[in-house]
Amino acid sequence: MSKHQQPDEAGQRKKDHIELTFSSQMVNIDVDPRFNYEPLLGSANNTDLKTNFLGTIFEHPIWISSMTGGAEKAKTINTNLAKLCNKYGLGMGLGSCRQLLSDDKHLSDFDMRNYIGDRPFFTNLGIAQLEMLVEEKRTHKINELVDKLNADGLIIHVNPMQEFMQPEGDKLNYPPIETIKRIMDKVKTKIIVKEVGQGMGEDSLRALLTLPIDAIETAAYGGSNFAKLELLRLKNEFAEQYSAFTTVGHNASEMVKLINKLQKELKEKVLCNNIIISGGIKSFLDGYFYIEKVNMPSVYGMASQFLKYALISYEVLEEYTKFHIEGLKMSKAFLRVKSI
Ligand SMILES: Cc1cc2nc3c(=O)[nH]c(=O)nc-3n(C[C@H](O)[C@H](O)[C@H](O)COP(=O)(O)O)c2cc1C
Repeated sequence: MSKHQQPDEAGQRKKDHIELTFSSQMVNIDVDPRFNYEPLLGSANNTDLKTNFLGTIFEHPIWISSMTGGAEKAKTINTNLAKLCNKYGLGMGLGSCRQLLSDDKHLSDFDMRNYIGDRPFFTNLGIAQLEMLVEEKRTHKINELVDKLNADGLIIHVNPMQEFMQPEGDKLNYPPIETIKRIMDKVKTKIIVKEVGQGMGEDSLRALLTLPIDAIETAAYGGSNFAKLELLRLKNEFAEQYSAFTTVGHNASEMVKLINKLQKELKEKVLCNNIIISGGIKSFLDGYFYIEKVNMPSVYGMASQFLKYALISYEVLEEYTKFHIEGLKMSKAFLRVKSI
């Protein structure tokens, strides 16, 4: 209740309360088991969401996960997202910048430095393109790409499942971890490694945590699913056989537990200390839960949630984000994550 309301507002509210009481009964709806609600112990107005991540201060612990480029509306979507990032002190990854390896026809879709200001801004390439660049001894193209976009670094998306399901997809000749190591030898820029929505298991996480990369983005199972999406694009009558792959993966909850377990097990062998928890994050409550749970500097990332509003307009995207941030402040002020 606002401390500064008008008498007729109070009258309307009381009327609403009476009318809406019967539709607000929480019968047979389970309480969220993740949190203790502690209404006496916080204050939303004085809750600070700042966090130190990737060597910079994030005003809010939120990452805009890699999405589109080189497609219709890509420029508008990326511009909206970059402006949002700048205003709210977030960080952002671009969608695959593969097209920029051959020519600059689509450069303006990706060229967001002017909009994003000095916020963390990463270019993005798939493991298949990187393997090709290594094989062809053209890894200098990666440095050129980072320079061209004035980016802070490179996100490598590792998506063998998606590539397999794509009619035009690339099959890999080497295990991605080998390609990543080769890239690290050649390229002097920050590196983040992610999946694209299936997540990854314990052994892949162990391999990444012991590499001196700048962050791992979980891109976990439970949200956008590219195996499923590519299956929908496949027209072959036998393709349905592959639908079993759409349910393979690791969700954010499992991945956070694995990361914590591996951190304890590997101790000083852990060389990557920043985690972006993403994949299926639908609300500030999910995001808050995971960044509180993981025992490393972290932010949470969302792709499809931001896309929904970035497609409409900057104003709608900002309105959504303001509500999201207020919800996150309330969560931090009054919710404590249970040790389950
Ligand atoms: C339209 C769209 C395009 C995407 N393109 C890329 C891409 O080019 N590179 C990449 O690393 N991830 C890409 N992703 C995957 C996301 O970064 C993210 O890992 C995945 O969507 C899970 O997040 P979500 O559940 O919040 O959508 C894309 C996602 C969407 C929705």
